[in-house]
Amino acid sequence: MTTTLDHPSYNYNVVRQFTVMTVIWGIVGTLVGVLIAAQLIWPALNFETPWLTYSRLRPLHTNAVIFAFGTSALFATSYYVVQRTCKTALFGGKLAAFTFWGWQAVIVLAVITLPMGYTSSKEYAELEWPIDILIAVVWISYAIVFFGTLINRKTSHIYVANWFFGGFILTVAVLHIGNSMVIPVSMMKSYSIYPGAIDAMMQWWYGHNAVGFLLTAGFLGMMYYFVPKQAERPVYSYRLSIVHFWALISLYIWAGPHHLHYTALPDWAQSVGMVMSIVLFLPSWGGMINGIMTLSGAWHKLRYDPILRFLIVSLSFYGMSTFEGPMMAIKSVNALSHYTDWTIGHVHSGALGWVAMVSIGAMYHLIPVLFNQGRMFSVRLINVHFWLHTSGVVLYIVAMWISGVMQGLMWRAVNTDGTLTYSFVESLTASYPFYFIRFIGGVLIVSGFILMAFNMFKTIYAKDNSLEAIKAA
Ligand code: HEM
Ligand code: HEM
Repeated sequence: MTTTLDHPSYNYNVVRQFTVMTVIWGIVGTLVGVLIAAQLIWPALNFETPWLTYSRLRPLHTNAVIFAFGTSALFATSYYVVQRTCKTALFGGKLAAFTFWGWQAVIVLAVITLPMGYTSSKEYAELEWPIDILIAVVWISYAIVFFGTLINRKTSHIYVANWFFGGFILTVAVLHIGNSMVIPVSMMKSYSIYPGAIDAMMQWWYGHNAVGFLLTAGFLGMMYYFVPKQAERPVYSYRLSIVHFWALISLYIWAGPHHLHYTALPDWAQSVGMVMSIVLFLPSWGGMINGIMTLSGAWHKLRYDPILRFLIVSLSFYGMSTFEGPMMAIKSVNALSHYTDWTIGHVHSGALGWVAMVSIGAMYHLIPVLFNQGRMFSVRLINVHFWLHTSGVVLYIVAMWISGVMQGLMWRAVNTDGTLTYSFVESLTASYPFYFIRFIGGVLIVSGFILMAFNMFKTIYAKDNSLEAIKAA
């Protein structure tokens, strides 16, 4: 299948820029992930340098993978999809270019300030107030470009992928601005305006919906465009995709308290969070089934198309993590899983399995199209990447599940006289083999990303597989 850039007036430049940066930030983010995974086994790897301590590199990892890698992929695909499905160029002239440079500036500032130890200490919202203001400006510009394009559309219908992208853009703006309300005391230090338990509630309303709207709704937008495109089949049920959208966004927003079970948060709020999380299983699986069933009549393509394999396996991981999440939201299950590596396993089955794989699939689809090439430089390398990534994710998450459940059980084990059976250090020692397995999984994943970058640059600069060359041959 070959798609061409049949509308030269569309703004593909910004899509190309975000696409290339997605791959580069993918390498950086996962490399830092491997480094912190190694530090948990060999603490000497912080080289006794404050900049390289685990506590500073961990937020650097999460910011790099979520906001640099994942969000660049979302910018690239949303700008591409909205132009093609609305049959019009991006709205706002140079504003789209501003979102690219502005967003890269945010990332560079994060890479500088987090290792220096500047942090608001709110997870996934660690950046200090001047950077938060820049994020808000870039994000509002993004919303103007995206919704302006939708308003200018030459089609009567708004394709479902745009509903998901639009929901994600709007909600992230509200979440970011709401959670970043602070009183600055110096250029790089501020305090939240919210007190105690309210601050915790605001933080996890933000944190959970960053997962729900950024790491889920945005990538579902990607899925609803690239799975049908790559499979060359229509969406299995368009009606289900609309039900999926409305059910997902109306439920996700209530589920944040499941991060605060057994805390000072009122009990009723914890119960609302738990119930909404359990119900969330239904739209999540509806969406997953809709994506996978889009392959009806095209299953045979999985045998020879590794891009489609990335996309479909990502949906399986989406199904896995959205089954696990509602289960972990049940208070009695959370009593075991919270604070353990089980959470880390869940996070990465969503992040590495779902988010990274759907993005990688979409990027492999986009790269040849954007650079006017007939195909990727090497399909065989995509296949190798697929197996490296899949084996890496499986090693990572299985290791974390085992160590997580083990830690939970060891921490709660008591002797007949009421004393603890195991000390904390014993549970840590027991976790080391699993940390090592995770480290190996991470190395496989980074190797896959490096192959992807090689394949991408070879494709961009190839002379013999451009569309013209293929047609001439
Ligand atoms: C129906 C869908 C989902 C539900 C109900 C759900 C539920 C949960 C629960 C109960 C926790 C543990 C909270 C704790 O003990 O602190 C959690 C953690 C987390 N989940 Fe999910 N999850 C879902 C899907 C996903 C997906 C698809 C992703 C990623 C793409 C994801 C990313 C995360 C992250 C990053 C955390 C860790 C947050 C933190 O403590 O830093 N979740 N989730
Ligand atoms: C080579 C691949 C990766 C490796 C080796 C890796 C490793 C790690 C490690 C060691 C942690 C800290 C765990 C802890 O504190 O116990 C972590 C946390 C985290 N990682 Fe990764 N990671 C990788 C890829 C990714 C990707 C691609 C994403 C997102 C798209 C991601 C999202 C996260 C998040 C959200 C957390 C925080 C979880 C929490 O607080 O509960 N990681 N990662």
